[in-house]
Amino acid sequence: MSEYLQKCFSTAKINGLSLRNRVIKAATFEGMSRDGVPGEGLINFHRRIAQGGVAMTTIGYCSAEADGRVTDQMLYMDEQIKPQLQRLIAEVQQCGSKVSGQLSHCGNFSKNRQFQGRRPLGPSFGINSVGIAAGMPFAGSLSIAEIKERVQTFARAARFMKDTGFDAIEIHFGHGYGISQFISPRTNKRTDEYGGSLANRMRFALEVLAAVREAVGDDYPLLGKISMMDGVSDGIKIDDAVEIAKMLDRGGIDALVCSGGTSSMNPMLLFRGDSLLHGMIEQEKNPVMRMGLKMVGPKLFRHYPYEDTYFIAQAQRIRDAVACNVVYIGGCNSNRDIERVMAAGFDFVQLGRGLIYDPDFVRHAMADANYKNGCSHCNKCATLIEHPDGIRCTER
Ligand SMILES: Cc1cc2nc3c(=O)[nH]c(=O)nc-3n(C[C@H](O)[C@H](O)[C@H](O)COP(=O)(O)O)c2cc1C
Repeated sequence: MSEYLQKCFSTAKINGLSLRNRVIKAATFEGMSRDGVPGEGLINFHRRIAQGGVAMTTIGYCSAEADGRVTDQMLYMDEQIKPQLQRLIAEVQQCGSKVSGQLSHCGNFSKNRQFQGRRPLGPSFGINSVGIAAGMPFAGSLSIAEIKERVQTFARAARFMKDTGFDAIEIHFGHGYGISQFISPRTNKRTDEYGGSLANRMRFALEVLAAVREAVGDDYPLLGKISMMDGVSDGIKIDDAVEIAKMLDRGGIDALVCSGGTSSMNPMLLFRGDSLLHGMIEQEKNPVMRMGLKMVGPKLFRHYPYEDTYFIAQAQRIRDAVACNVVYIGGCNSNRDIERVMAAGFDFVQLGRGLIYDPDFVRHAMADANYKNGCSHCNKCATLIEHPDGIRCTER
């Protein structure tokens, strides 16, 4: 085994948390949480991933509050689901893996009918495109008092997650979700101290980080997932992302996961490969949304050909700029890719689709230096996030 594979498959630490190797299962919202309750399927899914040898699995989209969800089928961090979460965590830990939860908020886009006449709230007034069919075509703007309250909401959720037994938390700063709506000039049109300059647009993110850090303490691992570019006009570009990463590093993040794109405006930038559009039209039950998808879909789901380790050049810029751990994500699909990522100085690697295709990715990669994962990036798994049975690889 090469020096870099040895590095990847030997033990490591993130802020004191011992990990059996450097491979982390990426947050992939599994959709196995009917009515917001972690189901048997979700527990089985993460146990299976743990059995395959990853150091840590990440439960995707753990909303900071009920209103932070895109749909009412997503988890939110609340006492009523603590027993199920604790069971999931215990089962994963028994297999030798750790568990992280992706602490998220949808901000200005939601189709969660539990809003009942209210609007989802983000940095600025705007169109809530996913909520049109749910009767919520607009998103409102948070007042300063509401921003302060939302910061505390993140802190409360983080405290709950630590108490519940999560080994780590990954704060979602990217993909056009609630925090990244503040960071991006495309969605943040505020003229107060939370808008305008990058320092102002980062204020909310840094306040969330500081409040979460205070809630969980200095010796608890905090990861942060960022977008290195939004992929939309007036959005974040890589030069901004380098500064964003430096600010989060100075703010006390332990590891940065470097992704890109925005789920609601340019999702293909983060996935690459086959378009999600056809699968999404197939899965969409609401006729208005289906019609909308057919109309705007081709513009929304742009074509980005898949390449192995497609974010490596940009992520390298973040690697060079910060002292904290940097986690590579995006198209790492073989031992050759892992070697490239480790040789470039990344501390950890996150895998999404590769593990959905082969939960034994790590076991297989440790046994065979020429291991190559068979995921074809058809992206059908990602079109199943709202399917009643949740996501799965349709090619196996
Ligand atoms: C089914 C599915 C669901 C996803 N859900 C999330 C999510 O909840 N949060 C997130 O940050 N990224 C999500 N992603 C993106 C992945 O974390 C990752 O950034 C992307 O799949 C690229 O990594 P990969 O090439 O290893 O798959 C999802 C991806 C897939 C395939």
